[in-house]
Amino acid sequence: MTILITGGAGYIGSHTCVELLNSGHDILVLDNFSNSRPESLDRVKELTNKSFKIYKIDLLDKAAVEKVFSENEIEAVIHFAGLKAVGESVEIPVHYYHNNITGTLILIDVMQKYNVFNLVFSSSATVYGIPQQVPISEEFSLSATNPYGRTKLMIEEILNDVYVSNNNWSIALLRYFNPIGAHESGLIGEDPNGLPNNLMPFISQVSIGKLSELKVFGNDYTTPDGTGVRDYIHVVDLAKGHLKALEKIVTFNGVEAYNLGTGKGYSVLEMIDAFEKASGRKVPYVIGPRRPGDIAECFAKPDKAERELGWKAEKGIKDMCIDSWKWQSQNPEGFQTNEHRNKYASTLKS
Ligand code: WQD
Repeated sequence: MTILITGGAGYIGSHTCVELLNSGHDILVLDNFSNSRPESLDRVKELTNKSFKIYKIDLLDKAAVEKVFSENEIEAVIHFAGLKAVGESVEIPVHYYHNNITGTLILIDVMQKYNVFNLVFSSSATVYGIPQQVPISEEFSLSATNPYGRTKLMIEEILNDVYVSNNNWSIALLRYFNPIGAHESGLIGEDPNGLPNNLMPFISQVSIGKLSELKVFGNDYTTPDGTGVRDYIHVVDLAKGHLKALEKIVTFNGVEAYNLGTGKGYSVLEMIDAFEKASGRKVPYVIGPRRPGDIAECFAKPDKAERELGWKAEKGIKDMCIDSWKWQSQNPEGFQTNEHRNKYASTLKS
């Protein structure tokens, strides 16, 4: 199939491109590179020895999006493109709503115009808000505790309404838990802009000395060691889940949500320990206050994805930490290539 991947240059997007290409699919990538670099796609081509079209386009540019659909026989879309920093979404909510929701509305509109009704949507476990219990299953009540989470929840609702208005649609809503790790080659991985918000990129930048120490956000939660427990899932397992979802949606019309998690939770201190063992590096940390909005525990009941998609996470915490370390130690500045560094260095001199 020819698949359009919006946000394909991003962390999860680029790993999904690799799995799609290696499975024989043809892909097109649409990305505005606001939170990613073209270098990640160069490395996808290197890893797969495959080529594909790249459109540097913002989903808010409807004419440009229409041109992509008019020039290509697109059979399905995997929609990653969107802003995803929880803290930033609290500071600039209108930007998040416009970017994430208007961009998705434009995509849906153009897909309908070109009779493309197969969609895999990058959702998030954040739509469960403060879960009433763990493990979390798909029929739990949904809520959001921040504008980013509300964009994901609203888009899920919009997609349900779109299906009700036109039963040709086949939609999978993939609710990610905590994606970490990197491709085993170390060529692609997570490359956050500025200071990392999330635990693993922060730990890996501390381990290479780019950051001095990790601040653990609270150790007074009702968890075994008092620190936050999350369901960390290897990004390659997550990427493979998208292939399974693609295979599934062409077999039915409707909208189905799937938790993509391992079903096992690890605490912050357990993650620090696992990373130190995997990297052979100490990760200095201090215990600080809780981060506003954080919950004590969050991990998936992944049975539905296993039953209906034939998908199950295979990689463990050790793999996740080894692959994170390999990516970070081989790419201390992420995807900033020498060209970027030289350009930056030259501006410093002038
Ligand atoms: C994990 C644990 C922190 C950083 C977020 C988004 C969610 C999804 C995944 C997009 C928590 C602790 C973290 C640090 C710490 N993103 N921590 N020090 O908050 O579970 O989920 O990312 O879909 O929407 O909410 O992930 O990695 O930020 O935190 O102690 O410097 O690590 O308190 O317990 P989170 P996280």
